[in-house]
Amino acid sequence: MHNPQLDIDGKLKHLLTIEGLPKRILNQILDTAETFVGVAERDIKKVPLLRGKTVCNIFFENSTRTRTTFEIAAKRLSADVINLNVGTSSQSKGETILDTVDNLIAMHADMFVVRHAQSGAAHFIAQHVPDNISVINAGDGRHAHPTQGLLDVFTVRRYKPDMHNLRVALVGDVLHSRVARSEIHALTTLGVPEVRVIAPKTLLPADVEKLGVQVFHDMKNGLKDVDVVMMLRLQNERMTGALLPSAQEYFRTFGLTQEMLNHAKNDAIVMHPGPMNRGVEIDSSVADGSQSVILPQVTYGIAVRMAVMAILGGRQSAGERNTALQAASSMAPGGIS
Ligand code: CP
Repeated sequence: MHNPQLDIDGKLKHLLTIEGLPKRILNQILDTAETFVGVAERDIKKVPLLRGKTVCNIFFENSTRTRTTFEIAAKRLSADVINLNVGTSSQSKGETILDTVDNLIAMHADMFVVRHAQSGAAHFIAQHVPDNISVINAGDGRHAHPTQGLLDVFTVRRYKPDMHNLRVALVGDVLHSRVARSEIHALTTLGVPEVRVIAPKTLLPADVEKLGVQVFHDMKNGLKDVDVVMMLRLQNERMTGALLPSAQEYFRTFGLTQEMLNHAKNDAIVMHPGPMNRGVEIDSSVADGSQSVILPQVTYGIAVRMAVMAILGGRQSAGERNTALQAASSMAPGGIS
């Protein structure tokens, strides 16, 4: 079945979810991101790849890391960046999402970066926009957060380059986590042989094993000999009903303390997508400790988001060149050679 994120040539057209994306596309993004890591170390932190393009950040839900790093990434690619403040936009007067999008298209936007509390919002917009516009999902409900999944595997690959010989554990609220879903799809597609989830039964989706993970309900067993520990936030805003006795009880059972981390390999890395709840899912001494790569994740997020936008922008530019060539060809009496 055709993947709506790819064009007929198999090139990335939108980035909506990692599920179903071929390994070659994930590697293309990760390899391209490697080339952008060094841009941050230059005096002039800019490359001209998106010069003349306009990127619109439309965030219907709060964000610190994703919105800011998308803006920095687009600016480092020399794009013009518009941050639509949804709170002060005409959405608050009853305008529909598609009317908002149509108005931004009329202003010649080239790329939309969309975060929304409803699963499927970015797909909905992608189905609506013309072929020359790309949509990037910056997190939709509990469904997907593809650039977070990609920056997480990019971070893993940087610290643990042999992806085919890794044991990775995701710990916490998998049920409500779009990040967990994207991480699992990215890790399994890239060939990580053992992906574990550690959580109480109430915080796991039904049939979670079908995602290709091993399930643990006990931290000591689940963390044993893992190379990477990915902590997840308790997504209280998405919980309906009491799924846990209390935050304190949760921390006692599933919180990552140094004592718990000692069950993993000595050189295991600790990750967290943020925002962190210290003392709920992770102890401060671990979050700020020598095994933590939580802030490098944020830094690598810029290179990964640059890579995604550069790849999408490259396809757009190739399309524009083809259209110009076709127009020139149809105008010239003998065509062009
Ligand atoms: N990880 C993540 O999506 O963080 P923000 O909500 O701050 O963007």
